[in-house]
Amino acid sequence: MSPNRPAAVVVLAAGEGTRMKSATPKVLHPICGRSLIGHVVAASRELAPEHLVVVVGHGREQVTEHLAALDPAAVIAVQHERNGTGHAVRVALDELDHRGVRPSGTVVVTYGDTPLLTARTLTALTAAHEADGNAVTVLTARVPDPAGYGRIVRTADGEVAAIVEEKDADDGQRAIAEINSGVYAYDAKLLVEALGKVGTDNAQGEEYLTDTLAILRTSGHRVGAFSAADHHEIAGINNRVQLADARRALNDRLLHRAMLAGATIVDPATTWLDVEVTLEPDAVVHPNTRLLGGTSVAAGAEVGPDCTLADTAVGAGARVRNTVAEQAEIGEQASVGPYAYLRPGSVLGRKAKAGTYVEIKNASIGEGTKVPHLSYVGDASIGEHTNIGAASVFVNYDGEAKHRTTIGSYCKTGADNMFVAPISVGDGVYTAAGSVITKDVPSGSLAVARGQQRNIDGWVARKRPGSAAAQAAERARQTGGPAGGPADGQPGGPAGGHSG
Ligand code: UD1
Ligand code: CA
Repeated sequence: MSPNRPAAVVVLAAGEGTRMKSATPKVLHPICGRSLIGHVVAASRELAPEHLVVVVGHGREQVTEHLAALDPAAVIAVQHERNGTGHAVRVALDELDHRGVRPSGTVVVTYGDTPLLTARTLTALTAAHEADGNAVTVLTARVPDPAGYGRIVRTADGEVAAIVEEKDADDGQRAIAEINSGVYAYDAKLLVEALGKVGTDNAQGEEYLTDTLAILRTSGHRVGAFSAADHHEIAGINNRVQLADARRALNDRLLHRAMLAGATIVDPATTWLDVEVTLEPDAVVHPNTRLLGGTSVAAGAEVGPDCTLADTAVGAGARVRNTVAEQAEIGEQASVGPYAYLRPGSVLGRKAKAGTYVEIKNASIGEGTKVPHLSYVGDASIGEHTNIGAASVFVNYDGEAKHRTTIGSYCKTGADNMFVAPISVGDGVYTAAGSVITKDVPSGSLAVARGQQRNIDGWVARKRPGSAAAQAAERARQTGGPAGGPADGQPGGPAGGHSG
């Protein structure tokens, strides 16, 4: 049975997170492409609550700024003093009240530091809560080590009687393995009523939200528990060990989903995905690869080993190896790497190639065009089926401004060319190796822009007499071996565009 739309979800995130030992507020630490609170907000939003309220306190400027960007519709409630979870929920309801909102229906309370909690579990909790007509339903779990958690105290006939905090528990209660996750579904009106009766007479002198269960039960209302199928889901993050554990667990979940949807993950242990990554069926991810942000890998494409791709689209059948890419588009059947760096705005057409030790930035590489070796292509458009010679540099920066280079289709540029932008090279152009191209080249031309070679005959014998070089030259002269050519170099053809 699907539950009603909750009147509100309240996310508690005012805590200090001291054990993180961090200048960054705890809930802003990222795992798998979202902050901790980002995961909670995403799961909460799936319930489509009328209002989403986040209670902030410690580091509230940073948390508020983050939330404004993440979810502008979220209501921020500031808890100035950390007087306990009951107080925090009261602050949330006061903020809604201040805005003229008095929720009626179900209010879900959860924490900002439980990134593994799924919308599915929250929905099941809410559904059970409504189906049973409870005043409150607490999400519980049986955990291997209940230390630190509030324990669920049940009556002889199994009803939830109260939650007792560890610091207030006796030995018998400490032995209880069923714990309070800190997540609840409440009837809104009864929550307000119960919060009004919560005191601070406990070990920590705080307003405990947990006290509302005994309060509601004592006033004759139904109090229930819903047990989480997987206790890992409710794990809150308190330190960096737990942060790493949660990242691993969430990553495993994402990998399982991808594999069951038809992607091959060769080595799940060294593959990392962010939550918004999409892998089409028959995508293959090789070891030691991180796919980040909104990266997508289309059917039959292979990525890795050793790739980090962020917000990059990989087309069907493309092959990407040992590559770092950010905000790039890699066309169908294109080939990238090994050892390529695609920076933002790199767009590779179908069957294009960015090969070994190639850096590309803000440039489009047309269909079938190859930049195979040791080159930098920045701020450029290259047409189709052009080959850029090895070790070429698109000289885009004059020290003050960036300029564009345009190269046409079906060109073969020589190795070691500098294209000094702004510059335009037409279609079907050849350029000589070692050229520094500073003037536009009309279609169909050969551009040669380099010093003429001069060979000074006998220089070594005269200037380095008796050296190993001079002896080798003498032997070659006697046997008619290498170096037997004319003194002056030939003009040299356009070739030298290495296109291995
Ligand atoms: C709380 C529960 C405990 C439960 C555990 C689950 C109470 C009294 N105890 O204990 O039964 O097993 O969570 O993790 O509720 N927060 C605020 N403002 C406050 C106090 C807390 O926003 O004044 C937020 C914290 O940022 C945190 C959450 O509420 O996200 C829980 O607070 P914490 O102090 O960690 O509660 P626990 O002692 O762990
Ligand atoms: Ca806690």
